[in-house]
Amino acid sequence: MLKSKSVLIGIGGGIAAYKVCEVISFLFQAGAEVRVILTETAEQFITPLTVATLSRHQAYTDHDFWQATHGRPLHITLAEWADIFLIAPLTANTLAKLTYGLADNLLTNTVIASRCPILLAPAMNTEMWEQATVQRNWQQLQDNPRYHSLSPGTGLLACDRLGSGRMAEPREIISSLQSLLYTQGTQDLKGKRIVISGGGTREHIDPVRFLGNPSTGKMGLALAEAASERGAIVTFIHGPIAPELLPLSPGYQSIAVVSAEEMEAAILSHFFDADIMIMSAAVADVKPIDYCDYKLPKKELPTNLQLEAVTDILAKLGEQKKNHQTLVGFAAQTGEIVKPALEKLKRKNLDIIVANPVDKAKAGFGSNNNQGILINKKEEQKTINSCSKLELSHQLLDFINHWRHSKIENG
Ligand code: CTP
Repeated sequence: MLKSKSVLIGIGGGIAAYKVCEVISFLFQAGAEVRVILTETAEQFITPLTVATLSRHQAYTDHDFWQATHGRPLHITLAEWADIFLIAPLTANTLAKLTYGLADNLLTNTVIASRCPILLAPAMNTEMWEQATVQRNWQQLQDNPRYHSLSPGTGLLACDRLGSGRMAEPREIISSLQSLLYTQGTQDLKGKRIVISGGGTREHIDPVRFLGNPSTGKMGLALAEAASERGAIVTFIHGPIAPELLPLSPGYQSIAVVSAEEMEAAILSHFFDADIMIMSAAVADVKPIDYCDYKLPKKELPTNLQLEAVTDILAKLGEQKKNHQTLVGFAAQTGEIVKPALEKLKRKNLDIIVANPVDKAKAGFGSNNNQGILINKKEEQKTINSCSKLELSHQLLDFINHWRHSKIENG
């Protein structure tokens, strides 16, 4: 998704500038071309040498803006060159300038000269972020289709305040950039309610032992990020997920559960007003009949674990599904994938299923990549070769849109 793409980054003057170095390093390693503009105050936090070293290219500052050494005006050249423009950290000052169309430095002149999608990642002290003027400016930019936003999260800030204003994490910024490059900012799911399940469930024997599976939640999270980038109102219901994926973005609602029973309750309470439900969670099939609420000593552990079936959540949703709702399942398979996936699609009354091989290298549990065959009720198929889980998510969302449109056209 990033290979050979031209990514322009504007760094503002805030301590979160150091986190952008990680973004630059990742983008370069992923094969993107990266150019960086530092504002005058950004240079107080990180140096042009740092970003030039990471991006393998000269970093630009206001000093370059006023030099005639680049032939064509630098802000025009950079603006035309960029496929996408990230501004991070976005300070209160630059935010205000963007709101009013001011252009008094290299960064803001390049914004005005450019046409590509712009991703904004603000970072501020809580009082600054919550200031009425800052919030008014931020809201105004939300209504402008040129700008795409990564709202700041809540956490410990460099001013020792625990509150909102913390810049989105590098992982989230990178994911958003990739989504924007894929969609070019099209919000084709605007206002649609999508419920996504992800991660594995755990069925406890006692407080420290459980039956589980190796799911990390990466697939569900990629779906949640892709759908919210396309304008959907996303609810992400997930089992325990890998620590490196945390914190989750405040850009969608996330609900943490542990057992299949908790997941079922959370999904059923959100399914009734969902337009689309994507069940990517690795839900347990069975649970221990008995639960002990203290840690069982080794010698008391059962040698034969008595198990009972848990509800098949997806099958239950298939029974409740209304005509306007699109129900999507994942079929984690080894060996032959299409036939069993089709059988599951029919048995659970689904619209779409992802036949997902979990015995291939670079696919399935824990991997950053995935592959599969998308199949709809009419048995139309689309093969997705190994790609990032984010790209597979976008391909699946395209496939869902195609299905929903063809259903409307055919009444
Ligand atoms: N699923 C579910 N509730 C369960 C088990 C599975 O909602 N208790 C959902 C999964 O989230 C997935 C789909 O059903 O979207 C298919 O899951 P999978 O494990 O591939 O198939 P099963 O129906 O469990 O059948 P089998 O284990 O026999 O392959």
